[in-house]
Amino acid sequence: MCGIVGYTGTEKAEGVIADSLTLLEYRGYDSAGLALAGSKSRSIDIYKCAGRVSDLRSLLDRNMKLEDREATCGVGHTRWATHGGVTDTNAHPHRVGTVTLVHNGIIENFRELTEEFRLKGKLKSETDTEVVAGVLDSFYAESEDPKKAIVQTLKVIKGTFALVIMFANYPDVIFAVRNVSPIVATQSEQGSMLASDLTALTRFTDRYFVIPEYTIAELHRSALYLWTMDGKPVDPEWCTMDWEKNSSDKGGYPFYMEKEINEQPDSIRKTIESRLKNGLPDFSVDEIDDSIFEDTDNITVAACGTAMHTGLVFQNLARKMLKTEVKVCLASEYMYESPVVGDKTLLIAVSQSGETIDTLQAVKYAKERGARTLGIINVRGSSIARECEGVLFTNAGPEIAVASTKAYTTQLSLLYLVIAKIAMVKGLWDDKKVREFTESLVKTPESVSNVLEEKNDIHIIARNILEARDLFMIGRGLDYAALQEGSLKLKEVSYIHSEAYASGELKHGPIALITQETPVVALATQESLLKKELSNVREVRSRGASVVLFVKEAMSEGLEQEFNIVRLPDLPDEFMVFPAACALQLLAYYVSSDKGFDVDKPRNLAKVVTVE
Ligand code: G6P
Repeated sequence: MCGIVGYTGTEKAEGVIADSLTLLEYRGYDSAGLALAGSKSRSIDIYKCAGRVSDLRSLLDRNMKLEDREATCGVGHTRWATHGGVTDTNAHPHRVGTVTLVHNGIIENFRELTEEFRLKGKLKSETDTEVVAGVLDSFYAESEDPKKAIVQTLKVIKGTFALVIMFANYPDVIFAVRNVSPIVATQSEQGSMLASDLTALTRFTDRYFVIPEYTIAELHRSALYLWTMDGKPVDPEWCTMDWEKNSSDKGGYPFYMEKEINEQPDSIRKTIESRLKNGLPDFSVDEIDDSIFEDTDNITVAACGTAMHTGLVFQNLARKMLKTEVKVCLASEYMYESPVVGDKTLLIAVSQSGETIDTLQAVKYAKERGARTLGIINVRGSSIARECEGVLFTNAGPEIAVASTKAYTTQLSLLYLVIAKIAMVKGLWDDKKVREFTESLVKTPESVSNVLEEKNDIHIIARNILEARDLFMIGRGLDYAALQEGSLKLKEVSYIHSEAYASGELKHGPIALITQETPVVALATQESLLKKELSNVREVRSRGASVVLFVKEAMSEGLEQEFNIVRLPDLPDEFMVFPAACALQLLAYYVSSDKGFDVDKPRNLAKVVTVE
């Protein structure tokens, strides 16, 4: 959490940093700040405030010194508060003496360090970050050697951190170091730059590298160096982004969420196409050996939030189609459930960012106990991607809205391919059956496009639930799994309390909450479950609830006389989760935007969660 950026180059630093912070705002948006090395005065000036990057921009318009407009070096930060409330003073950057820095992560021993380094009188904020600046400044005072001071500081601080540092005597140079919290960096004609996420680097180049843990990065305008803790040079491991340059704009949509919902047909297609040969799943582009599926006798999916919900769909399919039991774990609970893990375990970690700390810990825990690990991840070079034995990358491109949409459907599409792959390598299906399955999968982008064409109908339905305080989403089987995601989507962007419930379970408690004020969204895409589902829908309706029924077209005949319905394009039942997901995403989106909320940045949430 928290977005950080550093830049030294030929462009005006204020513009580069403020634009990058806007792109990184999904990592936290309660305060923003930057420090600029004025090219004339050679001083480092800090501008920061509680609020959004837009508030920081207004502050800069009002107060920025003339010489800072020309500055070509600086660091910036957009905050998700952990230590210390949301105030101007607690916003980053922090400065103690000669050291100015920004930080992402948590310093666990900041209280002890405050005592040990006698920092109390020097600190202005309540943050753990300022303590690091104080420690660094104390060491720097002894040697006036930035790298030596950083190494000494790393020996005493405990926790996770990405630190981006400026020293008063080196106003054109940026130093950075990290443990767990990510930093990616790049060098181009326009200078050297680093950030917590790739999204901020797409501006100048498509080449980047991940700064290794406990390695000091030293960025100059036209060169960039990496040093080990004992001062030896390290070569960066350059990667090439598979995202287009500048693919991080809104493309004419009012919100990223709408843009990303609309990108799904394309991103699902891209994710599937390169992994099908003659209709059979082929992971050779990913260099994944079939043995990872052959040699396992138990599979666990560990993930958080939306990513975890893909596991629920996978679990349902694996049982039904492969007769195989799959465990799905909230990554934050995984190790506390004392899972039985061995060398026959396959842990599948699903993550858009590849940085969610709980998912990363789950992978490490399973690996230490001998498990094989497979990542389903969007961001190349991310921490989870580097930790997993094999990775299937989703080709979703940058996802900026905090509420995940195209990441979910592309993760699903890969998990569907994994189902087909397991069926193949374990000899459960013949090639004909595998091909039938993948033929349906290939049709999913078109069905999502069909939902998008009818989006106005969903917008009209959304108007009926704008005033709701509570809402239920009900369904059975695969629909119940899909609704867990639909319900999360609605609650995170619209602040309506929404619960997904298995329809058959309603009468064991929640039906007591159904009144005229409690709308119900029902999903019916599974033919064998339709009759039972309709009975449950009638039960809630007879208790006063207004019901919207999302139903597979082929099963919808006559239902419009009884219910308010939205027809979903026909696919075999197992694949209906794709159009259903898109319809429910649109529902959440329209409720939020019609209520006038900042759809892309729901309160208290952050897209990349790097604290436990
Ligand atoms: C946060 C985001 C969610 C996301 C979850 C897992 O809570 O707000 O949208 O699903 O983290 O993130 P990951 O990057 O691991 O998929």
